[in-house]
Amino acid sequence: TQVQVGVYGLGTMGSALALNLADKGIRIAVSNREADWIDPFLEEAGPLSSRITGAADLGNFVAALASPRVIILMIPSGAPVDDMLAQLSPLLNPDDTVVDAGNADFNETRRRTAQAKTFHFVGMGVSGGEEGARHGPSMMVGGSDHSWQQLQPILEPIAAEFQGDPCVAHVGTDGAGHFVKTVHNGIEYADMQMIAEVYGVLRDGQGWEAPQIGALFANWSAGKLASFLVETTAKVLHVTDTDSGKPLVDVIRDQAGQKGTGRWTVIEALKLGQSASAIEAAVGARAWSSAKSARLAAATQFPGVGQVELDPATLENALFAGRVLAHLQGFEVLRAASAEFDWSLDLARIAEIWRAGCIIRSSLLDELAPLLRKTPQRPVLLADGMAELLAPAIPALRQVVGTAVAAGLPVPALSAGLAWFDTARQGTGTANLIQAQRDAFGVHGFERMDMPGKHHGDWG
Ligand code: 6PG
Repeated sequence: TQVQVGVYGLGTMGSALALNLADKGIRIAVSNREADWIDPFLEEAGPLSSRITGAADLGNFVAALASPRVIILMIPSGAPVDDMLAQLSPLLNPDDTVVDAGNADFNETRRRTAQAKTFHFVGMGVSGGEEGARHGPSMMVGGSDHSWQQLQPILEPIAAEFQGDPCVAHVGTDGAGHFVKTVHNGIEYADMQMIAEVYGVLRDGQGWEAPQIGALFANWSAGKLASFLVETTAKVLHVTDTDSGKPLVDVIRDQAGQKGTGRWTVIEALKLGQSASAIEAAVGARAWSSAKSARLAAATQFPGVGQVELDPATLENALFAGRVLAHLQGFEVLRAASAEFDWSLDLARIAEIWRAGCIIRSSLLDELAPLLRKTPQRPVLLADGMAELLAPAIPALRQVVGTAVAAGLPVPALSAGLAWFDTARQGTGTANLIQAQRDAFGVHGFERMDMPGKHHGDWG
């Protein structure tokens, strides 16, 4: 039997994906920059190692693979990927495919795709962390149809399944897979931030302890907020620190890290003329979290946070509305990118492959998928059935945002989502005044509603 796929990179994610492949009966070869990682990995693989060929030398690794070859790179994104492609390039044939399964900037993926002359290059988004990689991730595949033909039989068996449907798709050409993964992460940032905002309202505005908040989230994870992130939140809020005896979250420094995917979503959204304001608020909140000493000083200089009283059902609905709005922003960015880069993204299919395996998997995605399927050409806010889904939860979002704002409790992502919604549904907006200002100071001209052509005002 032939070796069907090579996995290069035996870090946490690479090892997990390699074991997943072997587990599904797929014969693989593995290699790693530090060759001394290979033997311990084979040992860890136990009986699965009978399906795994370890190759310390890159030439041997490539030679072990059946043609046309498939190589999956599970290495840090950026320069290491370019180095690796340069090393692989002379060893490959035009029918071979190299997959970058890291979190790459899709612009780099497009560049690498254009530069790959001796092989097909595929950018693939993989979500679900180590657990997902080992037992079923959600995978967003870019690149050519030729590569997809090679990859489909390998990826479908290892993907997460939602009611039997594998959570993997060829979403579009060149950088589409990495772009879709980037937006997935942008939504992930916004969802995490909104959850944290509700946590903050309960902790600082209502004096709740972590386990009590955890119990509420546990409750919500069985309802309309059912999702991996709400479940995870409930779980972490219940953990006690063995050193201090306090809830572990209470001893964790309030500074969040970020590796760039959230920021890329916002940057690309702006380039595409879109407003991903809830995602931007989440990226901005992580940035603010780093300024710990400045915040401590400002807390003394500008004191005063009031108490609030919001009932759990209102908070639940507000979080639901915020979550819907963050997803809509993400899908609108995808729609704009699809037009710009000619990807023909199937938004409904993307929602479907996010229903299991990935970090943002939720019952909401299962509700959104059929709406996106039914009226794909409309703005997502106007999709058939969206009003029924979203409108009933909006008053709760208003109440929570209004109450939190009045008390001085920060809810940047929830309020950005609400402002985006109110702007999007304002039939007669205020850009007429912007146009008048532009014409008054810069003679930029404006259109009139009652006659065609470009006009100027006599502004005096
Ligand atoms: C996933 C996650 C995963 C990871 C990112 C986010 O889909 O499995 O999105 O890719 O959590 O690294 O990273 P940061 O929060 O560190 O930016």
